[in-house]
Amino acid sequence: MNVIIKDIREADCISDALILPLCEGESAAPYEEIDALLKGLIRRVISSGEFQGKLNQISLVHTVNMIKPDRILLSGLGKKEELNAEKIRHSGGKAVSYLGGLRFRDISLSLSHLNALRQSPLPFVEGGLLSLYKFKKYRQDKEDAVRMERFTLIGKPRKSFFNSISRLVATVSAVNFARDLINTPANDMTPTVLAKTARGMARGKVSLKVLERKDAEREGMDAYLSVARGSMEPPKFIILKYHGGKGAPIALIGKSITFDSGGISIKPSEGMEKMKYDMAGGAVVLAVIKAAAEMRLPVNLIGVLPATENLPSGSASKPGDIVRSMTGKTVEIISTDAEGRLVLADAIGYVKKFKPRFIIDVATLTGACSVALGNEAIAMMGNDSGLMERLKAAGEEVYERVWQMPLYDEYLDYIKSDVADIKNSGGKTGSLVTAGYFLKEFVGDTPWAHLDIAGTAWTEKDKPYIIKGATGVGVRLLLNFLKETR
Ligand code: BES
Ligand code: MN
Ligand code: ZN
Repeated sequence: MNVIIKDIREADCISDALILPLCEGESAAPYEEIDALLKGLIRRVISSGEFQGKLNQISLVHTVNMIKPDRILLSGLGKKEELNAEKIRHSGGKAVSYLGGLRFRDISLSLSHLNALRQSPLPFVEGGLLSLYKFKKYRQDKEDAVRMERFTLIGKPRKSFFNSISRLVATVSAVNFARDLINTPANDMTPTVLAKTARGMARGKVSLKVLERKDAEREGMDAYLSVARGSMEPPKFIILKYHGGKGAPIALIGKSITFDSGGISIKPSEGMEKMKYDMAGGAVVLAVIKAAAEMRLPVNLIGVLPATENLPSGSASKPGDIVRSMTGKTVEIISTDAEGRLVLADAIGYVKKFKPRFIIDVATLTGACSVALGNEAIAMMGNDSGLMERLKAAGEEVYERVWQMPLYDEYLDYIKSDVADIKNSGGKTGSLVTAGYFLKEFVGDTPWAHLDIAGTAWTEKDKPYIIKGATGVGVRLLLNFLKETR
């Protein structure tokens, strides 16, 4: 999809439909000039009560050769006093997905009124582009495929606007890239496929290294390898580096369990099919590195995906087993279903060798995350309040909201083992925070933040600009965060 900006009259923009955003109760005045050419059509649609400007309300009108766009689409922004970036995203999602559903190839948007309302039009475009995503790979019927090719923004561009738009397009395609990886079922999204996907990104300033089982053994990653033992699929410990700036790298770790059955501590079969999304953290890290390279962000990144399946078998690890992590710490495996923290422990051990400025891990780590916060917020824990504040602010801006949970010293008691240095489960009580605390024990002094996306990485219901399935949550948050990081 091509997003372009043109400084022309709205009436002269050849397109299938021209979107005109309006607030609740507003008259046609903001579009006076075009309405005159339309002989008062907009005024009529409003005065008839057909279009009231309510949030996400839309009204499509044919222009029968009075102006160049074939149609106009009035798009409701809701109450002026309540207008914010997220509502504008919703409105854009609603309008653009509607036009996408009509199979239009070429649409346009007037920026003038949003400008007058002192609102950035970028969220409107963002919501619009994100709303067009579909996961079609496994469908024979492609009829309802979106054909949108061009999105013309009409207005006077400021210099920074071109840069913002190209970042926005790169961000949306990164989100969709992550969504594709996550939605792909585990038979086609194995650790090997993830590694191949990463290999496809390695060019220019992005380099790749993949540790095979043997290499991981040599590194002493027994916590990670214990998870892989039950599966026939070879594990792949994937390391991507992006060299875009100076100084110590920022480490991004993404949980990459391509299927989590729970292992010997097997999960109930109901809903188990969803555990293909247990690699969402890894997909987010790949997508962020991809977009960071595209945008040439002036930072150094090291992305790590400890990829494996978690399956039961005769060779699987068992409750009670004790394994030694790369850092030397021994772990008693209470539940083989608490596998995420095992693979992350070794990923943390690995990135610490690079002396990163800070570590951010992204993981679908606990069921308790959605028990606590539902599907509305990422649970964050960490050891550096400055880093966490910045992540929270970055998340707020893109509406990938982050809520901090405590890591009280007392939680250590929950995961003390009688026989090893630590155990991988403290049971149900506080399991969101004890998972975080477990990771903290491996991080040591490096500034670190943990993002549990178990509640937000997947949605069962369509949202205004995110359809059912993988949400790609974390990509926009981290890219927005990195954009502010020098
Ligand atoms: N991948 C799951 C967490 C999860 C559950 C993510 C539901 C998304 C939706 C994780 O590996 C897991 O099984 N965690 C256990 C930990 C427990 C055994 C301490 C959990 O939360 O139940
Ligand atoms: Mn699990
Ligand atoms: Zn898991």
